[in-house]
Amino acid sequence: MKALILAGGKGTRLRPITFSMAKQLVPVANKPVVEYGLEAIVAAGVTEIGIIVGDTAEAIQDTLGDGSRWNCRITYILQLNPLGLAHAVATAREFLGDDDFIMYLGDNLIKSSLGDLIQEFKDLGPAASILLTQVPNPSDFGVALMDGKKVVKLEEKPAQPLSNLALVGVYIFRPIIHDVIERLAPSPRGEYEITEAIQGLIDRGEDVLPHIVTGWWKDTGTVEAMLEANRLILEDLERNILGDVSESKIEGRVRIEKGARVDGCVIRGPVIIAEGCNLQNSYIGPFSSIDKNSVIHGSEIEHSIVLADCKIENVGTRISSSLLGRGSHVKQGEAMPKSLSLVLGDSSQVELP
Ligand code: TTP
Repeated sequence: MKALILAGGKGTRLRPITFSMAKQLVPVANKPVVEYGLEAIVAAGVTEIGIIVGDTAEAIQDTLGDGSRWNCRITYILQLNPLGLAHAVATAREFLGDDDFIMYLGDNLIKSSLGDLIQEFKDLGPAASILLTQVPNPSDFGVALMDGKKVVKLEEKPAQPLSNLALVGVYIFRPIIHDVIERLAPSPRGEYEITEAIQGLIDRGEDVLPHIVTGWWKDTGTVEAMLEANRLILEDLERNILGDVSESKIEGRVRIEKGARVDGCVIRGPVIIAEGCNLQNSYIGPFSSIDKNSVIHGSEIEHSIVLADCKIENVGTRISSSLLGRGSHVKQGEAMPKSLSLVLGDSSQVELP
């Protein structure tokens, strides 16, 4: 079996972060999202991995390399236009050959092993296995209707959902899927939909089996979902203080990497602080991830993701539920009258107290 990770796409819902970086590389607990999927695939025993890349190909290649860090082999496949998930599969046709393959959306996080899913697929031999989970807002997803143990109908973002079972971003296919995709037409939103391809398998009388996710699942395509994924991953963090800490109160599950300096701070876990960070006279509250070489002085932050090389200085209001892109600088102005001074990229969001 091979694997196909989709790491192209536009990432419009995660702007402005995605103007300058791939959404699959945004860190969750200081590790790029896509690495969680890659690790789950390798842990399930699949080591021949194709990665679909688009505009951000170079950054993804620089981050993941040839796969030797994970003892797997990565082949990069360029999708010139992000025309849909089924289009990504068609783009990878040569790499996939006549092998079965597991497809994984590179911005998804799933807390459940893929090994069971793969074993079930091998034991039962359907044309496709799809991961499903119950959601409160099925209209935002591909939705599946089941009859007994089989999937009988699929719809993409339906106005009137047939069920509350949404497709999670993991699928396993036999190569017969390529025959269906070859005949697929674009949907009203102009994409080649994987849900339509799977419906095509059902229409041909092929078996499509569901696998209900028991652990959590997050599509990290929005800021809220990214912060929630960060919270869920940090829930499993273990305490480990490797950096230099002085005059500080470090409570609970806090990881401070070697080469980070913490002075006169209160840190209440779960919190992860990367190497090279410099934290002084600050409060870092639960569910915060502070990435490499960031500086936080005289400020308070919680439930946030701070990417590398940020500076937060003497901010008088607690920063909460925020995502700060690489090299962002937030500081308290000293000039009178008190006014806001902003340099914001396209699609930036600022919420004032
Ligand atoms: P989506 O989140 O559905 O699409 P998107 O990345 O274009 O984001 P947005 O809706 O915010 O504009 O994509 C799911 C995953 O699949 C994500 O990792 C990007 C990837 N993808 C491709 O590789 N090729 C494609 O043609 C599409 C549509 C997505």
